[in-house]
Amino acid sequence: MTASTLNHTLALNGGEKLIQNKDKELFHWPIITKEDEDAVLDVMRKGTFSHTALTSEFEKEMAAWQKTKHALAYCNGTASLLGALFGCKVGAGDEVITPAYTYWATFMPIINLRATPVFADIDPKTLCIDPADIEKKITPKTKAIMVMHAFGHPCDMDPIMAIAEKHQIKVIEDASHAQGSLYKGRMVGSLGHVSGMSMMGGKSFAVGEGGMLLTDDEEILQRAASFGFYEKTVGTNWSKEGDLITEPELLPWKGMSAGGFKHRMNQTCSAMGRVQLKYYPERIKEIQESMNYFWDLLKDTPCLTIHKIDPKTNSTMGGWYNAVGIYHAEELGGLSSQKFCEAVQAEGGILSVGPKQYARSHLHPLVQDADVYNEGKPSVIAFSDRDTRLKKGDLPITESMEEKVITVPWFKKLKPDLIKQYADAIKKVAENYQELL
Ligand SMILES: Cc1ncc(COP(=O)(O)O)c(C=O)c1O
Repeated sequence: MTASTLNHTLALNGGEKLIQNKDKELFHWPIITKEDEDAVLDVMRKGTFSHTALTSEFEKEMAAWQKTKHALAYCNGTASLLGALFGCKVGAGDEVITPAYTYWATFMPIINLRATPVFADIDPKTLCIDPADIEKKITPKTKAIMVMHAFGHPCDMDPIMAIAEKHQIKVIEDASHAQGSLYKGRMVGSLGHVSGMSMMGGKSFAVGEGGMLLTDDEEILQRAASFGFYEKTVGTNWSKEGDLITEPELLPWKGMSAGGFKHRMNQTCSAMGRVQLKYYPERIKEIQESMNYFWDLLKDTPCLTIHKIDPKTNSTMGGWYNAVGIYHAEELGGLSSQKFCEAVQAEGGILSVGPKQYARSHLHPLVQDADVYNEGKPSVIAFSDRDTRLKKGDLPITESMEEKVITVPWFKKLKPDLIKQYADAIKKVAENYQELL
């Protein structure tokens, strides 16, 4: 489409809609073949839902792919992050620095362990936690930093690991958005001391409902296992100080789960995960080619800038989970992102403002006032010696993203002609925005 043909009445104002037909394969995810079906059916037919042999295989394969020593499969990602925090000995009165710009499961498990999330701001281009703000938020109570690789974009891990080293604290990666992303050639999920990730049905690596913890650290692994895997506690136990005890005579928790949780993965999910993993690298390669093609088409559309990492740094966006762009209203005479998206949708395109709630996690009643555990105090600071709660305006970049981050089409297949239509729908609105003012 040339500039002149773009110059048409917008569909929102009664013009002709640009995209007439939807191609389901372009967006369909996860890709399920007969191999997935057979693997899952086999578990169902044998009735081995609660067994662990297949899960152990899946763990070994995940660890090999991620290049970590250990992997521990979970019933969901939230539980894997709780296990990772417990693995790092996070407990009552500790502080954990975390982005607010994320899904609640990144930081709510911190409160679950009677510790306090301390929210840091993000970088406006990467949407990931800002290392400079982490440094400002360190206190003697800081036990760990929880990072989240937003929408596939790796966090800037080198300075984050340097801060952790300086203060002798742990780094936990929430890799739920970024399975397969590379940071300077290294796999996201293997960069901190431990990582947790979601593998729920909508994620780029999807097994149904599931999660995975990855670490090289034997003690973190054992603590996480004792917290939520009663079947793994045989032969291990923990002292009151949180140290690993291996003497069999000191095993009062033997056969039980210390956290009172049961975190293991259902084997229908392990079975599907094993098949998905075989094809995941080639599938995300196609996603990366498709998304790069889409963004290249929009390189001269300054109202919507790309959320991606420079491939020259040998980094990638993995499966480009829930692809987003960053909207700049000032480029279109102040046109709101909401109106911009509505106009693109009217063209048959896919664009929506959000996820909005990420921009206000730190102001949510659950991290302000809620006394979840009946302790007579807000749970978020129930064991803290200071009030860490933030006010509106305290995380300016995070808050500014409420109207600026826009979910863009997440292409799974490299179909250039079709992808171009979606870019054209955006360009058409960008070039005719004055009709909407
Ligand atoms: C960033 C992030 N962390 C954690 C989770 C929690 O994972 P799950 O839903 O598998 O418990 C999700 C998504 O669901 C997520 O997007």
